[in-house]
Amino acid sequence: MHILVVGGAGYIGSHMVRYLLDHDHRVTVYDNLSTGHRDAVGSAQLVEADLSDFGAIEQTLSVNSYDGVMHFASFIQVGESVVDPAKYYQNNVTNTQNLMDAMVATDTNHLVFSSTAAIFGDPEYIPIDEAHPKAPINPYGRSKWMVEQMLDDYDRAYGLRSARLRYFNAAGAHPSGALGERHDPETHLIPLILQAASGQRQGIKIFGRDYTTEDGTCVRDYIHICDLAAAHDLALNRLIATGQTACYNLGNGQGFSVKEVIDIAKKVSGVDFEVTDADRREGDPATLVADSTRAHRELGWTPEFSDLTTIIEHAWRFEQKRIKRP
Ligand code: UFG
Repeated sequence: MHILVVGGAGYIGSHMVRYLLDHDHRVTVYDNLSTGHRDAVGSAQLVEADLSDFGAIEQTLSVNSYDGVMHFASFIQVGESVVDPAKYYQNNVTNTQNLMDAMVATDTNHLVFSSTAAIFGDPEYIPIDEAHPKAPINPYGRSKWMVEQMLDDYDRAYGLRSARLRYFNAAGAHPSGALGERHDPETHLIPLILQAASGQRQGIKIFGRDYTTEDGTCVRDYIHICDLAAAHDLALNRLIATGQTACYNLGNGQGFSVKEVIDIAKKVSGVDFEVTDADRREGDPATLVADSTRAHRELGWTPEFSDLTTIIEHAWRFEQKRIKRP
């Protein structure tokens, strides 16, 4: 198959590209390199362009016949989305509509879209299945939920079929240590912890110890980045085979508190870095855990690296390689 990976130079996108290349697919990456890295796309062809440029994405889609498109290009910081919502609606909604319109205009079908657990807001029940009410509590979550609804409308009106994958906490790195998480600034817990372990930062702050969880710190469902990539491949295959739009919640179904993550990272790294308490971060739900029964049943998806120690070991391997780079 020939697949267009939009945002293929970023954290999740680059692991997807690697997965597709390893499985003998032809891959073209469309990325403006605003947050992604040229060296992360490997041997895939790179079209360096912006999704705000309708002509560029339409042209890219018309020069080749793609079996499917995977869309990872979005801004992902919840806090920033509250301060600068225009940036999020422009990039995550308007630019995504450009992609959808260009797909319709060029008769390209099958879009796998990166959605998020943030569309659910403060959960009404745990674990969270696909039917859980959608009540996002920040512009980031709203931008993703808007696109999901637009995709339903485009499906009905224009026959654009999609699979929407709601990630819980994407984590880890390619087992080889060659690819990993390189956000700037970094806001995610595991890379920040490992930067503390490698001496790249002072220590780690725990944002709130007064949540209604067992040890008072937030609980999250961490899912290995390569398992996410496998789910995309399965979802695209099913989309092509059935022609049916679908959505899937993707996690391991097991929650770990911030404190537990820190304890595992200390064991994995062998470093006893400094941990301090800080106020709650605005907009953090106490617990987010996925019910991924549908993905297991319909896609035959079984995470290979479900153990959090393994996830952190892989991220640690990447962190050690990263700091050795010139
Ligand atoms: N945390 C800390 N200290 C830090 C960083 C994070 O205690 O220095 C805590 C957070 O408060 C949170 C947990 O660690 O409780 C995980 O935080 P992350 O920032 O790693 O991940 P989030 O759960 O906030 O965000 C993830 C995705 C988002 C998505 C969200 C869905 O990264 O894109 O899940 O709720 F929107």
